[in-house]
Amino acid sequence: MQIHSAIPDLRHALRNHGRVVFVPTMGNLHDGHLSLMVQAREHGHTVVASIFVNRLQFGPNEDFEKYPRTFEADCEKLREADIDLLFAPTEADLYPERQQYYVDPPGIQNQLEGEVRPGHFRGVATVVLKLFNIVQPQVAVFGKKDYQQLMILRNMTRQLALPIEIVGGETVRADDGLALSSRNGYLSPSERSEAPRLYRILSGIREAVLAGDKDFERLERAATVELDSHGWKTDYVAIRQQSDLQVPLAGNNPLVVLAASRLGTPRLIDNIDI
Ligand code: PAF
Repeated sequence: MQIHSAIPDLRHALRNHGRVVFVPTMGNLHDGHLSLMVQAREHGHTVVASIFVNRLQFGPNEDFEKYPRTFEADCEKLREADIDLLFAPTEADLYPERQQYYVDPPGIQNQLEGEVRPGHFRGVATVVLKLFNIVQPQVAVFGKKDYQQLMILRNMTRQLALPIEIVGGETVRADDGLALSSRNGYLSPSERSEAPRLYRILSGIREAVLAGDKDFERLERAATVELDSHGWKTDYVAIRQQSDLQVPLAGNNPLVVLAASRLGTPRLIDNIDI
């Protein structure tokens, strides 16, 4: 696996490559990321991963400084996953001057995750567009676990006419249903055994809706009450349209149920398609 941190070196290494599939990450790789790498391989000839903890997408009180950085172990995993090339820029490589031009996603960036993390999706969209311009992939793979991120990046790519196919990678779960996440490492043993409740609750909502329950607000409220009565602090449980994450109108648009809740210090997010 080649590793490059400088943009000109990466561009040079990628000249004359066939179909490039790109998997951007912030490192601290787990099986969820590795399954994205496996899916990436199905879509092209050269698989490029990136590792960059992007300061722009962290709020002032978030865990940017503490975010787990495990570069050597990540490289080992990427080699085992047979990745061709790793782009691992430093902050000076990616932001050699103060970033003043941003991608500003529409109103949905201020709802759900964006309501709790103002500016987060602006930071994500900006760095992803920049990474796209550097790597110039034909395909890019993002996990469905960050559903809102996937939706915003898909719509950004379409609206800005970027010649890139966006692929949503399935969420990988532990045997008890907990979605794998770098932040699960912050859970204490007792929080870890409580954590699968989130997935059980989302699955219950899915079954209720499929069985014909249309009282979404009641389902969302009941889920929040159940989580909070077990020590969680819930930011949202929301049933939304898959395409744009708007509140569902009458009709049969495909739905997704999303949730974010804090269990002790870690904040867990999850979603399932209905
Ligand atoms: O999902 C992530 O890890 C990050 O938001 C991404 C897409 C790599 C941008 O920094």
